[in-house]
Amino acid sequence: MGSDLLTIKHLNLYSREGSHLVKDVSLSIGHGETLGIVGESGSGKTLTLKAIIGLLPTGIRETCEEKKIEGKCAMIFQSPLTSLDPLYPVFRQLVDVVEYRQGVSRPEAQKIAEGWLQKLSLPEDLAEEDRYPGELSGGQCQRVLIALALATKPDVLLCDEPTTALDVTVQKQVIDLLKDLQKELGFAMIFVTHNLAVASQLCERLAVMRHGEIIEEGRKADVLKHPAHAYTKELVDSVLSVPEVD
Ligand SMILES: Nc1ncnc2c1ncn2[C@@H]1O[C@H](COP(=O)(O)OP(=O)(O)OP(=O)(O)O)[C@@H](O)[C@H]1O
Ligand SMILES: [Mg+2]
Repeated sequence: MGSDLLTIKHLNLYSREGSHLVKDVSLSIGHGETLGIVGESGSGKTLTLKAIIGLLPTGIRETCEEKKIEGKCAMIFQSPLTSLDPLYPVFRQLVDVVEYRQGVSRPEAQKIAEGWLQKLSLPEDLAEEDRYPGELSGGQCQRVLIALALATKPDVLLCDEPTTALDVTVQKQVIDLLKDLQKELGFAMIFVTHNLAVASQLCERLAVMRHGEIIEEGRKADVLKHPAHAYTKELVDSVLSVPEVD
């Protein structure tokens, strides 16, 4: 495991009815590292991220032996459209976040936000002719969410399936973009997905979750080449490759 920018030890989450939803999850990541959490639907990925950032839904009970986060944490939520305020133009949302979180003047925030539009290849005319989230494509909304999260200058970025709602070519663009931004800005990242191929593209370390537990964790190369758990092996075997054509 890496150094200790973020350490979670023995996290357990229970529903109001007493179901054990997340079981004894421990993880840690160091500066600039990327951890991929892969697992099927309902395995507890989102709840784990929400527990880390302190945004658990009401009714979920948490016990955790140790939770240490050095620096700031930001999260990109699972669905781009429902994570943006539909009644609030996107550029204004971005300027607000920059102004509030970076404590700069409005004109300064406006300038910084324009820089984000450029960095994320968003239409730069948004700065003059702002638009509502519903007037952008899914991929553009996702980029706005990434900009909103990164504008808070996080040390750790938590990404919850940020590309699942996108078509595959846009998916690749967003992943490449996150990779480049990470290189430039140096934040650490936990990237949650059900897609092992996507996680493998981005992450040096992988954790596999099933039924609320981390059943396997290690360096990407080890997990992919020598999966210890039968379920991980199934995941690896189910990644489709492009067939060779003569
Ligand atoms: N607010 C809640 N109250 C009660 N149970 C919940 C709540 N939110 C999630 N759960 C349950 O906890 C389990 C884990 O949910 P979670 O959303 O973390 O799964 P996930 O791995 O993110 O799945 P997906 O890939 O579909 O997003 C599921 O069984 C889910 O039904
Ligand atoms: Mg989820």
